[in-house]
Amino acid sequence: MNILLTGVAGFIASFTLKKLLDEGHFVVGVDNLNDYYSPELKEYRLKQFESNKNFKFIKADISDFEAMSVLFQTFKIDAVINLAARAGVRYSLVNPFVYYDTNSTGTVNLLELCKDYGVKKFVLASTSSLYAGLETPFSEDKPVNTPISPYAASKKSAEVSCYTYNYLYGIDVTIVRYFTVYGPAGRPDMSIFKFISLIDKNVPITLYGDGSQSRDFTYVTDIADGTVKALKNVGYEIINLGNNNPHKLSYAIELISKYLNKKVEYDYKPFHKADMLATWAEVSKAKNILGWQPQVSLEEGIENTIKWYKDNYEFASKIPLVD
Ligand SMILES: NC(=O)c1ccc[n+]([C@@H]2O[C@H](COP(=O)([O-])OP(=O)(O)OC[C@H]3O[C@@H](n4cnc5c(N)ncnc54)[C@H](O)[C@@H]3O)[C@@H](O)[C@H]2O)c1
Repeated sequence: MNILLTGVAGFIASFTLKKLLDEGHFVVGVDNLNDYYSPELKEYRLKQFESNKNFKFIKADISDFEAMSVLFQTFKIDAVINLAARAGVRYSLVNPFVYYDTNSTGTVNLLELCKDYGVKKFVLASTSSLYAGLETPFSEDKPVNTPISPYAASKKSAEVSCYTYNYLYGIDVTIVRYFTVYGPAGRPDMSIFKFISLIDKNVPITLYGDGSQSRDFTYVTDIADGTVKALKNVGYEIINLGNNNPHKLSYAIELISKYLNKKVEYDYKPFHKADMLATWAEVSKAKNILGWQPQVSLEEGIENTIKWYKDNYEFASKIPLVD
């Protein structure tokens, strides 16, 4: 297939791109390379694919309808995987506008062009953040109507737009809700990346709350695998992709400390109102519909991530962290 993959220089999309190319697809990748976090890290991820003749990178913004139209005119696209997003929860309180521009309007732009150009398959990356306030484990049949950050609200908006375009025009949609994704060359605004970098440098880590909040940490290759499987025709489905095995943040910190062989110092801050106390994915739907199951344990995943950090030390240790 010819696949339009948005946010291609991003953490999850770069692993998804690898999987798509390995499976023989042609991929048009779009990213605006914004500087919310290190554009050098985005370039680093793209570099591994620059000589692949089945990959074409276009620097463009999904909130720019004209630019997206040109793409749909130029390439015969069979499916869209929309991973481009403003994805940090806390920064969404600082500048909510860019979140709605990309996550909500950008998604509608792509759906509208799928309708105009007869593209039949759309995959949207969504988030466990939508389950705020609900009891764990989170299953997809629970209504999610209480987003507690502009990030979550903008993703909810993208999800419901997908529903509308499926209902009106029959575009086949899989929405994948990811749970705290981590791994090599990850996001420098997320806890695992930050903790590795800070603990390695003997700098105190900022901990919001006491570390007892738990996350269903999910390794990035599992997420990429589920995202590619989500290209299957399903009608309209929302499917969790999570490890189904939550751990306390304090345990993840313990593992990092162990594999780096360094002691941890803490700078405690109050628990943030836009954060969730616990996440935990119910994944039977992913198993039944997509034949997907997580493969990588937190222990193995953190060990791999630290190996990448050490193997790329000159570059990785200098990536600026984002609050
Ligand atoms: N990482 C997680 O734990 C997690 C959890 C839940 C959902 N998600 C979702 O998964 C997707 C990928 O997240 P990620 O962690 O890889 O984040 P990321 O920030 O590394 O990747 C997103 C990419 O999109 C690009 N982008 C942003 N706005 C754009 C625009 N207007 N036009 C074109 N490109 C744009 C960015 O430059 C970036 O390279 C996002 O939709 C995110 O909301 C991620």
